[in-house]
Amino acid sequence: MKKVISFSGKGGVGKTTSLVLFLKYILEKNGHINILVIDSDPDANIADVIGQNIHFSDTIGGKMKVLKEKIQKRQLPLDVPKNQIIEGDVYKSIIELDKFDIIEMGRTEGEGCYCYINSVLKNVIDTLSKNYEITLIDSPAGLEHFARKTGRNVTDLIIVTDPSKMGLHTMRRILEITKEVNLRFENIWVLGNRFPDNLTENLEKEIEKLNDDHVKFLGVLPNDDEISEFNMKGENLLNISQDNLTYQKAKEIFSKIL
Ligand SMILES: Nc1ncnc2c1ncn2[C@@H]1O[C@H](COP(=O)(O)OP(=O)(O)OP(=O)(O)O)[C@@H](O)[C@H]1O
Ligand SMILES: [Mg+2]
Repeated sequence: MKKVISFSGKGGVGKTTSLVLFLKYILEKNGHINILVIDSDPDANIADVIGQNIHFSDTIGGKMKVLKEKIQKRQLPLDVPKNQIIEGDVYKSIIELDKFDIIEMGRTEGEGCYCYINSVLKNVIDTLSKNYEITLIDSPAGLEHFARKTGRNVTDLIIVTDPSKMGLHTMRRILEITKEVNLRFENIWVLGNRFPDNLTENLEKEIEKLNDDHVKFLGVLPNDDEISEFNMKGENLLNISQDNLTYQKAKEIFSKIL
């Protein structure tokens, strides 16, 4: 059973944090499984949270910048189709870590049209995730990538929200836009992050109000001082203790998906 699980939501609600807790859970449960992590957020990066230092030239954005320059200077070989070159670059961008692979999208800098490159990238990433049992995608905070219909092969969409009006507003917008552009998912989950116990019920009510059987309440994670500390000190969140209560809660929640 191949799963492509994407984390989306308003900026700063905890997409990256919950993705890394999920990753820890999978590694613990199925150590030998093939996992790909796609960091498609050009601003924030998972690498920081898991204590990796990834250089811009190793990101897709970095590779595409070089490619664009070559196209402009007409330095590309004429006998190789451009999409093959892009595909090759994507495969070269896979960073193989000990227990999983990671692809960092990085930012596409500078002026000029990236439309062609982006459309090829979309397909390559869909193809690439077929080689992995589990693909975890950290989405950018905005809604724009949904409008562009990236993530057509996502099986599980997790919408993360904090206990705020704006977090919930973004959740509803994501659901509207994915419907408008006809993006389909096997499952749509809502995850509350930094939620105090007394507001959990409110989140469940908000989900009921959507009147959409397809959208399910995944659970809530509390605010956690140890998570803040790991983040501030730049420590690898994958090393958070087994005894951490939020991690224990996360495992229970994520077992609904896998
Ligand atoms: N449950 C939690 N307890 C304590 N701190 C948390 C928790 N969840 C997230 N944080 C902190 O909140 C900040 C934002 O979290 P995170 O980077 O995961 O959000 P994000 O949605 O990925 O943000 P962005 O939209 O910028 O990518 C980080 O400093 C993180 O350590
Ligand atoms: Mg993030």
